[in-house]
Amino acid sequence: MHISRMRPFLKWPGNKFRISEQIADILPEGNKLIEPFIGAGAIFLNTLYKNYLLSDNNPDLIHLYKTLQTHGKQFIDDAKTLFTPKHNCEKFYYKQRTLFNESDDPYQKAVIFLYLNRHGYNGLVRYNSKGIYNVPFGHYKKTYFPADEIAYFYEKSKKVRFICQDFRTTMQQAKKNNVVYCDPPYVPLSESANFTRYSQKEFTLEDQKDLAKLAKSLAKGGIKTLLSNHDTPFTQKIYKGAKHHFIQVARSISCNADTRRPVREILALYQTKD
Ligand SMILES: C[S@@+](CC[C@H](N)C(=O)[O-])C[C@H]1O[C@@H](n2cnc3c(N)ncnc32)[C@H](O)[C@@H]1O
Repeated sequence: MHISRMRPFLKWPGNKFRISEQIADILPEGNKLIEPFIGAGAIFLNTLYKNYLLSDNNPDLIHLYKTLQTHGKQFIDDAKTLFTPKHNCEKFYYKQRTLFNESDDPYQKAVIFLYLNRHGYNGLVRYNSKGIYNVPFGHYKKTYFPADEIAYFYEKSKKVRFICQDFRTTMQQAKKNNVVYCDPPYVPLSESANFTRYSQKEFTLEDQKDLAKLAKSLAKGGIKTLLSNHDTPFTQKIYKGAKHHFIQVARSISCNADTRRPVREILALYQTKD
């Protein structure tokens, strides 16, 4: 079930825009789509479920979505004022980053988060161990205000409940006829590779195993669950028992965007046999 494709308005590591059509084709039908790792929302934007429960454990991200959902056009207009050539400079960026980290004003924080996301280095999302957002300035020649993308997200968010919480809690909220799509931080491709850290807390191999177990138990209760990840011996092992689909993706796997080599993605569908 897919529609004409819409890009997310945030730059987000691991976002599934490029393979959203293939994922939408595999996703089963249901009355609601639950995404415990919403990130930039590429699958939410490119599917047509009646309702959505979207969550993530990044509070800044969920707060931004809730602010957009509540304030709509006013928020879009306010965010746009920061997207001028004058504001695309190191000095202004770092001033905003400090303001963001120190501000107690929720609305201001949401506006600045969007600015930082599209002016920061290489679409990175990074916090230090104290939870301070520390992405450096991006040095883009030009930046883009994603007006259409954000307006589309806003329209679609009328069917959404956003929650900031750990994936385990979200998965426990699934009910019969819901479909769950889980896109956790990737397992490393090699032992020396690092996890992408989207927040203070690292997503460990134990978390990956817990997720697979939860998906299996949801399927036993009749709730179809799709998981995506890098295709590695580890993911093949922990997703044993699910139906495996594979997608080849040309993707940068190092810091150097020129060294693109194909990486295979595994999609594991957990469902009881009807
Ligand atoms: C690969 S990204 C999801 C990308 C998303 N599918 C998209 O298309 O943009 C993984 C997300 O998991 C979130 N995350 C990491 N650990 C989590 C946890 N324990 N519970 C919930 N979300 C978590 C991160 O904040 C990040 O947004």
